[in-house]
This record gives sequence, structure tokens and C-alpha cells, in this order.
Amino acid sequence: MTGQRPLLVVVDDEQGILDVVGRFARRAGFDVLTCSGGREAIELLGMKRADLVMVDLRMPDVGGLDVLRAIRETDPRCQAVLMTGYASVETAVEAIKLGAMDYLSKPIDFGRLEQMLAGVRDEIERRRNLLTIESDVARRLEFCGMIGRGPAMQELFGMIRRLAPHVRTALITGETGTGKELVARALHKTGPRRERRFVTVNCSAVVETLFESELFGHVRGAFTGATDHKPGLFELADGGTLFLDEIGELPLSVQAKLLRVLELGEVHRVGSLDPRRVNVHVIAATNRDLRAEVAAGRFRSDLYYRLNVVEVKLPPLRDRREDIPYLTASFVRGTSERLQKPLLGLSPGAERLLASAPWEGNVRELRNVIERACILADGEFITERELSISMPALEAPAAMTAAGRTTPRGTAPDQDGGGDLLATVEREHIQRALLRANGNKKAAARMLGLSRRALYRRLERLDLADTIMRRRDTDATEVNA
Ligand SMILES: Nc1ncnc2c1ncn2[C@@H]1O[C@H](COP(=O)(O)OP(=O)(O)OP(=O)(O)O)[C@@H](O)[C@H]1O
Ligand SMILES: [Mg+2]
Repeated sequence: MTGQRPLLVVVDDEQGILDVVGRFARRAGFDVLTCSGGREAIELLGMKRADLVMVDLRMPDVGGLDVLRAIRETDPRCQAVLMTGYASVETAVEAIKLGAMDYLSKPIDFGRLEQMLAGVRDEIERRRNLLTIESDVARRLEFCGMIGRGPAMQELFGMIRRLAPHVRTALITGETGTGKELVARALHKTGPRRERRFVTVNCSAVVETLFESELFGHVRGAFTGATDHKPGLFELADGGTLFLDEIGELPLSVQAKLLRVLELGEVHRVGSLDPRRVNVHVIAATNRDLRAEVAAGRFRSDLYYRLNVVEVKLPPLRDRREDIPYLTASFVRGTSERLQKPLLGLSPGAERLLASAPWEGNVRELRNVIERACILADGEFITERELSISMPALEAPAAMTAAGRTTPRGTAPDQDGGGDLLATVEREHIQRALLRANGNKKAAARMLGLSRRALYRRLERLDLADTIMRRRDTDATEVNA
């Protein structure tokens, strides 16, 4: 499917073994490189990324265990098999500790060799295909940028398709990060006004005293600082859609005026008595329970009923876990393209971790976790290690979204972050590990789940090499204090 054959490196000082293992491996679908000694192998593996290494235990220059050690350092995901004529429990244990996945005794049993090669090849293929398959499916299951495979989201997509041609006012509810803004955009994009403006106003981001003028505009001299006439967002959205995000935060005084506009279809700029006709579709969203807000006297019931004519409810991610692998595949693909990293997917353990997490920050949290893990991943696969480092820091999803908050004028970028954010997160993350490791790069690398070489590469790429030295001094005083 990927078209690329996995690479096997065979290391043995006996030409006969190189020949026979090489022949079997090519037949099993591997590309094969051979080395006649440990030193040569370590050098080769420093330059080429192998999927599997089969290495003899005893060789005159550098032995098999040393080669295994070198593999752990340079490429922890490369699989390794130790071959030996001197089978002993101690070396077997030592080899397994060093990450060898299997042990082949000499003289080689060809049946077992064949079986083993087929097993490794299937595993490599399975991992490689996982992401391609799932992201293909994801593409097919996408609707206006939303991914949803399970029945809940499929039903929601159907509902949006049916509503979009007719809806003039809608209320979208759901926990934070469930995709309310995407739904609002989807209603607009699939409706009759798709060619017209979609204007966003984030009700939690506007100062109360400026709300009226933001929404309805003002005339010159209406208040101090109103040096000119200015149209409000309602006028800007005329003929299109106005998205009132976080409507639960709208002050009561503005709620009354908003209701009037919705009912009469006209606005008054602040300081003016002339009504102006506007034809605006209004979509509102909130993560609050508006009914409870009404009961508590914080939200006008008449406005609530006016908006609530059409309600679209987004289920939390924990109630649609079947979507997680597809969302994940799509986020991994997107992030790895952005980072230009050849990531193929997740290890099985990492998948399990994602499947069982609580996801209180919903899809946004999942996306942020995956982005961080992609940054930290040092091979083709994201493992539990990268995930577990990425997850606890995200318990407060609000912190991650602050940077991407929609401005009242609706000019915020579509995405919650960009390449800069990724670099910043990575930099901070590495700095934190170095601090905690007291400047010891080997220990920091271990904490980060990176090989030492990989850490050095990152320090260079992120221009961190000398920051670290300064950090180390500071850190020393902190530790002594
Ligand atoms: N079904 C989905 N498929 C793909 N990405 C999604 C999906 N749902 C949400 N996202 C992504 O998750 C993030 C949060 O989505 P969105 O901003 O729409 O959430 P929200 O419900 O408006 O959250 P909040 O209440 O915090 O404003 C965005 O990056 C969005 O692209
Ligand atoms: Mg939102």
C-alpha cells in the first residue's frame, strides 16, 4: 500500500548467514543490507533507518549486544533479533532488556526464520497502513471540516443538511470544544447565503459598554471617542449570517435590544433615531445551560425562546468515542504535514490511552494533545510516552484556546494555533524537561522519551543550545536554595 519495502539490516561475520538470511528476507518482501561486523553496522544504522536488524551475538570487532545498545540510542522503534550459536539464558535476557524482540539460535531453523520475517513484515505494514486507511475514511466522513463517523455525528450532519436551506435563527449548544463554531459555519456554508458574509462576534470578548456600538453601530458624537459614524456588525452582516458566539455572556441590557432587532429586522445606531433595515440570519452558540440561566434570571426567556426555535445539540466526545480514531488520524495527518514530519500513526498502547481518556475539553483537547504528541514523536509512530507527556498539561483546555479567541470583528484565524504555537510548545516542553533534569541532557532526553541524539538535533533546530547553559546556572541556584 505504501509501496515501500521495509528495510532489514543483517549483521554477521559469517558470509553464509548473510546470504541465506538475505535470500529469505527478500523473498518475504524486505529490502536487505548486510554488514560483516558490529562497527560497520553501527555506522550504517547511524545513517539509514532500518525497520528490522538481525544481528549475530559474537563477532570479532563489536558484538551483538553493543549493536543492540546503539539501536536503542539512535532509533528506539527499530525492531531487533539476536542470532547466536551460543544460546544462553543470560544473553537472551540481556538482549531482551536491550529491546530485542526475538532470539534466533544457530544453526538457523528456516521455518522459524520465515515465520518470524512474515510476522515482522505484517506488523510494519499494519502500522503503516493504519493512518492512510483511517484518514481516507475520515475524508469520506467529513462534512464541512467536521469529522464524525458514529451515529450521533452522522445524524447531526443530516440535520444540518435539512435545516440549512430554511433556518433563519438557530441556537447551537454543547460543552466547550465540541465543535459549535464548526456547526455554525456549516449551517452558513450549506445554506442559501453561502456566498455572503459570515460575521463572528464573541460575546465574552466585548466590553459591556461597547456592546451596543459593536452590534448596532454609532453616529459621530454619540459618546466620548465616537469621532465618526460607524456601522455595527449587524449592518456588516446584512444579507449574510451573524454568529453570536458565547451568547450566554451577553449582558441583559443588550439582550433586550437584540431581541428587538430580531423581531423588527431593524437596527438603530447608537445616538441615532433612524431605523435601518437589516436582513441577517442569526446563529448563536453557548456552552452554558441557557434554560438554567433563564431560571436564574441571567438570560431573558423571550430571547431564549426566540433563538431556541432550532436547537442543534453537540454531544460531548466521551459519548461518541467511536469518532476518536478518525479524528486522531486526521489531526496526525494535518500536523505531520505542517511539521513536515513523516508520522504514520499511533502505537497500539497510545490508541488505547486515547480511547479511554475522559476528554473534558472534547475535540479541541484531543486535537491539542495530538499536536503536542506529534511534536515530541521521534519516529514514525506516536507512542504512549509522547501521549502521557502531552496529556496532563492540557487539563485546562481554556489556556490553549485563549490565543485563538475570536475577536469581535471576526478576524481570528480558523485554527486554534499554527506552526509558531507548535514551536513554542516544543521549546517550552524541552526547557522544562532540562530544568527538571538539572541540565543533564541524558536525563532530560529520557524524560522526553527521546534518544540523546534526537534531543541534540532539536536543541539545534530550536536554537536552544546556549539558552540551556544559562538556564542551567539559574537552575543550580534554585536547587541549592
Ligand atoms: N467534528 C470535528 N471534526 C474535526 N475537528 C473538530 C470537530 N469538532 C471540533 N473540532 C475542532 O476542535 C476545535 C474546537 O472546535 P470549536 O471551536 O468549533 O468548538 P466550540 O464548541 O466552539 O468550543 P468553545 O465552546 O470552547 O468555543 C477546533 O479546532 C475544531 O476544528
Ligand atoms: Mg466556540
